[in-house]
Amino acid sequence: MNGETTLRVWRGEGGEGRLVDYTVAVEEGEVVLDVLHRLQATAAPDLAVRWNCKAGKCGSCSVEINGRPRLACMTRMNLFAPGETVTVTPMRTFPVIRDLVCDVSANYRKAREIPSFTPDPATRPGEFRMSQADVQRQQEFRKCIECFLCNNVCHVIRDHEDNTAHFSGPRYLMRVAELEMHPYDTADRRKIAQEEFGLGYCNITKCCTEVCPENIQITDNALIPLKERVADRRYDPLVWLGRRIGLR
Ligand code: SF4
Ligand code: F3S
Ligand code: FES
Repeated sequence: MNGETTLRVWRGEGGEGRLVDYTVAVEEGEVVLDVLHRLQATAAPDLAVRWNCKAGKCGSCSVEINGRPRLACMTRMNLFAPGETVTVTPMRTFPVIRDLVCDVSANYRKAREIPSFTPDPATRPGEFRMSQADVQRQQEFRKCIECFLCNNVCHVIRDHEDNTAHFSGPRYLMRVAELEMHPYDTADRRKIAQEEFGLGYCNITKCCTEVCPENIQITDNALIPLKERVADRRYDPLVWLGRRIGLR
């Protein structure tokens, strides 16, 4: 696809901005990030766009392209019809610093609140043994590149900014699930999942799973099993009795 395209890009700073149209050359095999770089090299040298690896692995280049949350470095230009205007806007859920760059630091603040892996001190290095099923489950969650496209698209924070402090979003609920399901983690994370990370806000819309560039089955393999574990704890007759008599 050699030729030209109309790139409609959000330009602005500190909450103010507008869409600006540019005509940019496109070469065979290019991705949206290539065209943004060409734009930077020509008509808009001050365009702010975050990127690092250009290989779908650093999670930096998250934007919305024609309204869909995507990685700019993994979105090929031949996805669009000839002559189609390609609109690139910053992720809608997070505050815009400038142009296409968002402030995603609220996500990292939530990440720091998660108690770290807590193995039994009696298990010494070299004694850990995991079944292949447990390894595979952990590996799926570990594919996350922290692009935050899942958090960007989740309506719980996208439409209700005030939920940001109490809802960690799918990315970090998945981290809680990862640790909760780890066979060598001894902490019970079901209470904090519900009370501090907002698991109850998730109504399983699966939008997070749909946009994940790593194809992680966030909802089916992390969020729903975590909800089931929380429900087991809540309705466990012994736990219920313990709560009634003030033991837990
Ligand atoms: Fe990105 Fe997927 Fe990780 Fe969410 S779970 S941050 S969409 S890689
Ligand atoms: Fe949000 Fe994903 Fe749940 S999009 S509502 S966290 S299934
Ligand atoms: Fe690293 Fe796109 S530049 S994921």
